[in-house]
Amino acid sequence: MRRKLVAGNWKMHGSLSENEALLSGLLAGMADVKAGVAVCVPFPYLAQVQSRLQGTPIAWGAQNVSQEAKGAFTGEVCASMLKDFSCAYVIVGHSERRAIYGETDGLVADKFAAVQAAGMTPIFCVGETLAEREAGVTQDVVSRQMDAVIAKCGVASLARAVVAYEPVWAIGTGVTASPEQAQAVHAFIRAKVRALDAGVAEGLVIQYGGSMKPNNAVELLGQPDIDGGLIGGAALNVDDFLAICRAG
Ligand code: 13P
Repeated sequence: MRRKLVAGNWKMHGSLSENEALLSGLLAGMADVKAGVAVCVPFPYLAQVQSRLQGTPIAWGAQNVSQEAKGAFTGEVCASMLKDFSCAYVIVGHSERRAIYGETDGLVADKFAAVQAAGMTPIFCVGETLAEREAGVTQDVVSRQMDAVIAKCGVASLARAVVAYEPVWAIGTGVTASPEQAQAVHAFIRAKVRALDAGVAEGLVIQYGGSMKPNNAVELLGQPDIDGGLIGGAALNVDDFLAICRAG
């Protein structure tokens, strides 16, 4: 059985005091949570979450990383720096980074490799835009995004990764993919991996992300191929995030 993983993607939100309130609220409510839980925070708050969460059931991570190991790359943060703060997870290929910062499939694959080389687990985001869904090319897009990682790192690398299916049209919009829509893409992803390696496919944790809230989490997380959630807005609210964690 795959253990569900619910991860909060705080995006560019928070402050030392807001984070403290959120973290202490989450820690107080973890007793009846069975799923794995993680928070992916802005770089400046890694020290705060490390000191607050070490020895607790909540893991932590970052939202981006450089593909480079070190050097003259002003403003960048490399994987070994994230490892210094005991990050378990690093999000790579989020649609906001693809769309706003022009990250290509190849760059995302390089970042995925850098995260694994440093001994952390990539949360590898894939997903189609509304135009792509309406054009009927959802599977082609997800397949192409995955192929870049598989070509660079091999299918076995997915045994040490999490895949997050995040339809771009559902992110931050309040429009969630229906459980059937999400399940169909999750099943497609698993079947694609199964065709290459059945063992990796069975163990692969595939999260859904895109307007997951307490009122839709139970149904989404009840689908056979949905193994958790990558949560944006609702991860900033103690009660909402805990409710989603409890649904897992
Ligand atoms: P929302 O939950 O705010 O739609 O964001 C989802 C997301 O992008 C998580 O990475």
